[in-house]
Amino acid sequence: MDPSLAIFALALSSATLALDNGLMRTPPMGWLAWERFRCDIDCTHDPSNCISEWLFRDMADRLAEDGWRELGYVYINIDDCWSSMDRDKQGRLQSDPHRFPGGIPKLARYIHDRGLKLGIYGDLGTHTCGGYPGTTLDTVTIDAQTFADWGVDMLKLDGCYSNGTVQEEGYPLMSKALNATGRPIAYSCSWPAYQGGLPPKVNYTQLGEICNLWRNYGDIQDSWDSVLTIVDWFSTNQDVLQPAAGPGQWNDPDMLIIGNFGLSLEQSRSQMALWAIMAAPLFMSNDLRALSNEARAILQNKVLIGINQDPLGIQGKRLLKEKSRIEVFWRPLSDSASALVFFSRRTDMPYRYKNALSQLGYKDGNYKVYDVFTGKTIPVLTHDAYFTVSINPSGVVMWLLSPIVHSGQAHERENLSLLHNHIE
Ligand SMILES: *[C@@H]1O[C@H](CO)[C@@H](O)[C@H](O)[C@H]1NC(C)=O
Ligand SMILES: *[C@@H]1O[C@H](CO)[C@@H](O)[C@H](O)[C@H]1NC(C)=O
Ligand SMILES: *[C@@H]1O[C@H](CO)[C@@H](O)[C@H](O)[C@H]1NC(C)=O
Ligand SMILES: *[C@@H]1O[C@H](CO)[C@@H](O)[C@H](O)[C@H]1NC(C)=O
Repeated sequence: MDPSLAIFALALSSATLALDNGLMRTPPMGWLAWERFRCDIDCTHDPSNCISEWLFRDMADRLAEDGWRELGYVYINIDDCWSSMDRDKQGRLQSDPHRFPGGIPKLARYIHDRGLKLGIYGDLGTHTCGGYPGTTLDTVTIDAQTFADWGVDMLKLDGCYSNGTVQEEGYPLMSKALNATGRPIAYSCSWPAYQGGLPPKVNYTQLGEICNLWRNYGDIQDSWDSVLTIVDWFSTNQDVLQPAAGPGQWNDPDMLIIGNFGLSLEQSRSQMALWAIMAAPLFMSNDLRALSNEARAILQNKVLIGINQDPLGIQGKRLLKEKSRIEVFWRPLSDSASALVFFSRRTDMPYRYKNALSQLGYKDGNYKVYDVFTGKTIPVLTHDAYFTVSINPSGVVMWLLSPIVHSGQAHERENLSLLHNHIE
């Protein structure tokens, strides 16, 4: 495969009609409560971790003060278990009065004052997954208007306690209802995850027209197993999923769990690298008040974020599954750049993987290579020169490659054998 042809084909395929709210032209970034804080509503015994306005204010402070906002992490998203068990007299959803005494509008102001955006959670069904009031077809309009009135910037609409018929009607209906409020509200649809994530039950053309992002598959858990299951599902089905993504419309493999308990350092790097290749939304679900320096460095890696946020918005793919249990992922980027991830599924020791760019579909020429995690550079790598990378078990080596296009190519070719030795 010639990557230049592939880029052309991919660019054409992602030129579908995106949801016309102007939002999320690159994958959204921020923080989402669910994976780390779930439905902890015990503010008496666990006040600093319970789902409450204090938790979201704490996280907003951290995003604003610890350098996250400037990197693009701007969404603070509430998930399930925020609401009261009853709607108010006008039939509107209302937040739990004890855990959100200031109400959502006040929390929205707090978040907006810090240059951030607020996301909220609803469920198209009789109840949310946690048993709170759901949004039935007859309350879609009033709920959209309530969220808009509160100053909400994003809605994740889950799909517990409903069925295919309700979802087929309700997800497009909510998209229209959000638009009708006049407030730009990004829309995350859990619909495909409830329909198996694949055609013919899932119509990705339609999803791109009504949602900004969508959960294709099951929830992430705080474990490496969970990350691998997700990566495998997305890679196995990449020919269906990859063309669905583009500016304003993203596949969502779910939250980043980096900084929690389930991933080693290598595995944390792997999640971040693979999410960048997949053009995935980067919603951290961790405790930003108590993050290790290692986790922070991974999540705040500017080059990695730049790859995730590439303006072309073309989702990458797995190119190769080697017998050695090394997998190679690739994503085309703007200005003819590209990213490669060499991912080890091995469990023994660092593996010395040898290949040449020409074997990975790169065309004639010289490339400058930047190693995203070590910061080392290979000034010139010719397409047909063999290189070796040492990949740790369950870890990655990630490269950003830019073609070198100037007249000095002959010189650089001569130096190749010399440079070749610097690659590891
Ligand atoms: C609503 O949709 C129209 C047409 O699709 C679009 O031009 C407009 O920006 C949308 N408004 C909002 C608030 O999403
Ligand atoms: C789906 O749910 C709706 C609302 O609860 C119900 O009226 C309808 O009969 C259900 N349809 C199927 C096929 O189960
Ligand atoms: C999928 O949705 C698109 C856009 O809404 C529509 O034109 C197309 O007919 C649908 N495809 C199928 C197989 O239903
Ligand atoms: C390549 O070789 C030329 C001349 O032999 C030298 O001037 C140049 O610095 C070398 N470039 C690199 C990147 O080593």
